[in-house]
Amino acid sequence: MPGVSLTINDKKVRVPAGTTILEAARELNITIPTLCHDKRLSPFGACRLCVVEVRGRKNLPAACVTPVEEDMTVLTESPAVVEARRTIIELLLANHPLDCLTCEKSGNCRLQDYAYRYGVKRTPFEGTRDQLPLDDNNPFIIRDPNKCILCGKCVRACQEIRGQAVLGFAFRGPATRVVPPLDVSLGESDCVFCQNCVAVCPTGALRDKYLAGKGRWWEFQPEAVTCPFCANGCHFYLLRKEGKVVAVAAGGAAPGRPMCLRGRLALTLIFCEEPPQPQIKTEKGFAAVSWTEALGLEELAGKLWPK
Ligand code: SF4
Ligand code: SF4
Ligand code: SF4
Ligand code: FES
Repeated sequence: MPGVSLTINDKKVRVPAGTTILEAARELNITIPTLCHDKRLSPFGACRLCVVEVRGRKNLPAACVTPVEEDMTVLTESPAVVEARRTIIELLLANHPLDCLTCEKSGNCRLQDYAYRYGVKRTPFEGTRDQLPLDDNNPFIIRDPNKCILCGKCVRACQEIRGQAVLGFAFRGPATRVVPPLDVSLGESDCVFCQNCVAVCPTGALRDKYLAGKGRWWEFQPEAVTCPFCANGCHFYLLRKEGKVVAVAAGGAAPGRPMCLRGRLALTLIFCEEPPQPQIKTEKGFAAVSWTEALGLEELAGKLWPK
């Protein structure tokens, strides 16, 4: 096979030219931790958690944006790499609320997973630990800026998958945050509540509001389902707890799969044991409506059951 040969952790692999070190490692089932990378989104290279050691190089390149080279020798868990990753996690935790005990994302959080993997129990760094207000004046998403690690996945998912560009980076330096335009709430923005951003967020910074209080992640048995209501075939998860479907969660965000709110609501109505009263956005804010109205079926209902 034409391509590039390299060695990763003493294992040889041959991959097409242009492959990144991260992708080559995955060919060998070697897991390199990532926070800002998502193969469905454009490369970003910001979090640096995926750094690796390349023999002969002084710096530690980010595996997700560094292409392989012929005869490269890569170490993914060398002492220098592990030390760098521990420092990155400690820096992230310096500005992160340590409330994993009650955080809805606990058990499904990459930051928590990597802190565990690298044995980071506390941070030596003094962060500002701002107490920013929650953005939850909408029925669908809780945005907790205190738990945002600025990985930018939501920004790219909203723009590249949904084409909405609701979320973006704002302010500078330590004050940098991910916010809707003019720092308004999601409810006041052009957000369509598709939850593509929720599906890619690695921490508890963006959460499905309907899941709040429904259970811990390890209590759910997720079942992947494909939405049958249009040709996009978006992916969702039915979250079962004690045999009952308690929620429908946004599944894998992917180009061409917008995961529209209407599809999620329809699946919620069909599968959830106790579906919530649906709400839609009106000029005066969010309002409770019938399922017929929420699913946009008034015209069809009018034909089937004329008044
Ligand atoms: S977002 Fe993750 S690391 Fe942060 S409190 Fe929640 S579970 Fe813990
Ligand atoms: S819910 Fe959808 S439209 Fe709203 S911010 Fe997230 S990705 Fe963008
Ligand atoms: S809200 Fe989540 S996905 Fe968006 S930048 Fe923050 S941590 Fe990343
Ligand atoms: S995952 Fe590579 S820089 Fe973030």
